[in-house]
Amino acid sequence: MKKFILVSLIPLSVFANNFNDQIQIYIDQLKVEAKNIDPNFNDFDSKRGEEIFTSKHIGKKGQEISCTSCHNLDLTQEGKNVFTNKVIKPLSPTANKERLISVKEVEKWLRRNFKDVYLKEGNAIQKGDVLYYINTK
Ligand code: HEC
Repeated sequence: MKKFILVSLIPLSVFANNFNDQIQIYIDQLKVEAKNIDPNFNDFDSKRGEEIFTSKHIGKKGQEISCTSCHNLDLTQEGKNVFTNKVIKPLSPTANKERLISVKEVEKWLRRNFKDVYLKEGNAIQKGDVLYYINTK
C-alpha cells in the first residue's frame, strides 16, 4: 500500500508543474533569486500568484487595472488590451500552445505588464508565483 501511494504521487507532482526545459531553467534561476530575497523561501505558490493576477491596482495612466483587465478572468478565453482594444489570445497554456514556451517572450511581457499594473517590475518571487498560477490554467 505504501509503495502504491508513493508511486501514484510522483506523476502528479510532475504534471502539476510541466514547464518545458527552457522555462524550467528560468524558474530555477528565479528560485535562486527568491532565496536571496527571502531565506525562508521554499517554492513558488499559485495561490499567491492568483492574488497578484486578479487584484486591482492604480496602474498605467492612473487607471485601476489588474492582469485580468487585459487577459480575462478566465485565462482559457481571449482577452482584450484595455489601452489599445486589441484582442489578446488566451494566456492559458492549455488553451494556447504558444504560451510559456519562450523565456524571451515571458521575460519581456512580465517586465512590461508588471509595470502596467504595479508601476514597477515584479521581483523573482512575484514572477514565479504568477507563472505557477498561469500554468495551472
Ligand atoms: C494592458 C494590457 C495588459 C495587462 C494589464 C497585462 N498584460 Fe500580459 N500581455 C499583454 C500583451 C499585449 C501581451 C503580448 C501579446 C500576446 O502575447 O498575445 C501579454 C503577454 C503576457 C505574457 C506572455 C505569455 C507568453 O508566453 O506568450 C505573460 C506571461 C503575461 N502577459 C502576464 C501578465 C501578468 C502577470 C500581468 C499582470 C501583472 C499582465 N500580463 C497584465 C497585455 C497585458
